[in-house]
Amino acid sequence: MAPDTLAHVTTPAPTGPPTGLFVSFEGGDGAGKSTQLRLLGAWVRDVLGREAVLTREPGGTDLGRLLRTAVLHGDDVDARTEALLYATDRAHHVHTVVRPALARGAVVLTDRYLDSSVAYQGNGRDLGEDEVERLSLWAADGLVPDVTVLLDLDPRAGLARLDGAPDRLERAGEEFHRRTRETFLRRAAADTSGRWLVLDAARPVDDVQALVRARVAAELGVAVAR
Ligand code: TYD
Repeated sequence: MAPDTLAHVTTPAPTGPPTGLFVSFEGGDGAGKSTQLRLLGAWVRDVLGREAVLTREPGGTDLGRLLRTAVLHGDDVDARTEALLYATDRAHHVHTVVRPALARGAVVLTDRYLDSSVAYQGNGRDLGEDEVERLSLWAADGLVPDVTVLLDLDPRAGLARLDGAPDRLERAGEEFHRRTRETFLRRAAADTSGRWLVLDAARPVDDVQALVRARVAAELGVAVAR
């Protein structure tokens, strides 16, 4: 979908500095998060005229790229070490990239955030969802996304979409990935904050993107004519 597909945008008259918006994309491997994030980022910049910061976990910083290599492509590590590597990446990412961008009024789009830790380490690795959530919130100094887009897909379909050699997490097995999916869906259903947008990632890319844009437009108070 081209960034100008929803081209008629009415933005309310500014009243003070713009407030940033923090959007996370979650879901299984191969669900299409990075495609959706890229399309949304182009639309935020080109149509809404707002600063868009596209980032990811793990690996949104120089230190994070080292941690990403270690956790995904390095020697095997135990589950607690794995959880702490993701938490370290998150702490540094939030402190140096996400919060400064939000303070500037940017729209920050992250490919994965703390719900991935709860799903993959908390349930997938059996460390306990509450405990891993507490660790993540501590690492992020309490920063929770305004919107979390869950791209839900049967893990067999997601893993089949991937090319290249699987990384440590992609090799974790079908049962592991079934449990991560179940955790994302359960968290979305139980949440009372309204931050979750659950979408069927088997739908065409443009359909999914239109729903994501509609939600972001609503969050930003922007009227978008179709
Ligand atoms: P991702 O960047 O989505 O992988 P890829 O670039 O291969 O599509 O995520 C990397 C992997 O890390 C993915 O399998 C999920 C996992 N992960 C966790 O286990 N815990 C976390 O907290 C995060 C952020 C990711």
